[in-house]
Amino acid sequence: MASRFRNLFFHRLLLLCLPSLAAASARVPALIVFGDSTVDAGNNNQIQTVLKSNFSPYGRDIAGGRPTGRFCNGRLATDFISEALGLPPLVPAYLDPDYGIKDFAQGVCFASAGTGLDNATSDVLSVIPLWQEVEYFKEYRRRLGRYVGKARAMHIVREAVYIVSIGTNDFLENYYSYVTGRFREFKVEEFEDFLIDRAADFLTAIYTVGARKISFTSLGAMGCLPLERTTNVLHGGDCIEEYNKVARDFNVKLQALIHRLCSSLPGLKLRYAPVYDGLLRIIQNPSAYGIENVAEGCCATGKFEMGYLCDQWNPLTCKDADEYIFWDAFHPTEKINRMMAQATLRTSLAEFI
Ligand SMILES: *[C@@H]1O[C@H](CO)[C@@H](O)[C@H](O)[C@H]1NC(C)=O
Repeated sequence: MASRFRNLFFHRLLLLCLPSLAAASARVPALIVFGDSTVDAGNNNQIQTVLKSNFSPYGRDIAGGRPTGRFCNGRLATDFISEALGLPPLVPAYLDPDYGIKDFAQGVCFASAGTGLDNATSDVLSVIPLWQEVEYFKEYRRRLGRYVGKARAMHIVREAVYIVSIGTNDFLENYYSYVTGRFREFKVEEFEDFLIDRAADFLTAIYTVGARKISFTSLGAMGCLPLERTTNVLHGGDCIEEYNKVARDFNVKLQALIHRLCSSLPGLKLRYAPVYDGLLRIIQNPSAYGIENVAEGCCATGKFEMGYLCDQWNPLTCKDADEYIFWDAFHPTEKINRMMAQATLRTSLAEFI
């Protein structure tokens, strides 16, 4: 009797919860993405840069094997998030001529592999600077207005969920690079502060266009990327602790910025997406996740190849990317992207869905 009562009770709870869940997914009309190669769905295919991935074996685990310009064997975290929100399973790149405003009304990606918060970062490999991503976003809002009407466009822009994933290149491609090295101008703490100011400019700019529900992805353990381990041969290919510390310090400053902006910009719901601990947990205890190799990418030797160096004829490329954290020397596998998407849905996005 008691257990029957309990079942009834849980049924009631379920009935109470189900309609609100259904309403919840309809609440997010679009997913809008800014950032770098962690979320670029193929914008770099359309520009003059060497930083591309629209060839095999990239995309080999997307249904039928489809190189799209995503720096992965499969889908990105943003693709999994879009699907979980009841939106399309692939977020289209804004510059991809195969898509139009009808598609972008449900989701669009402005990201460009190799870009950063600092203008100088996008210059390194001639990719799309972050300010240009913002210009594309403004153009998008105007096109959307012509397509669905001004009021509906404003509704979509305000209710959309925004994902921002950027910052690693500012340190690894720019600050610490001997070619362009910002390290000659700034102490690393000063450069962190400079980047935080640039993040504030960017977030204020997209807020002004209408963005409200924003998840900002923090930095991961970037000293553990295979490419960085390879440069750390003197220490047996360990993670570079200096880079990991910079990521942690930057993340503390990012959280302070997020608090500051939320109290100064009315209606802004800017949330911090933690990734550092999650990734490090997998690196330290890979077997719990069915992972065999945490130090090298699946593609080629896994020590330095990405982009054109990761080519389809390399006999060393692994068979099962699910046994790896990294697909190439700089980017996670689809398996890790899926896990990061789930973590983001549980944390920074929880109140938006
Ligand atoms: C970055 O470049 C854009 C476009 O030229 C410019 O408007 C912006 O002020 C620059 N940012 C900084 C911090 O120099």
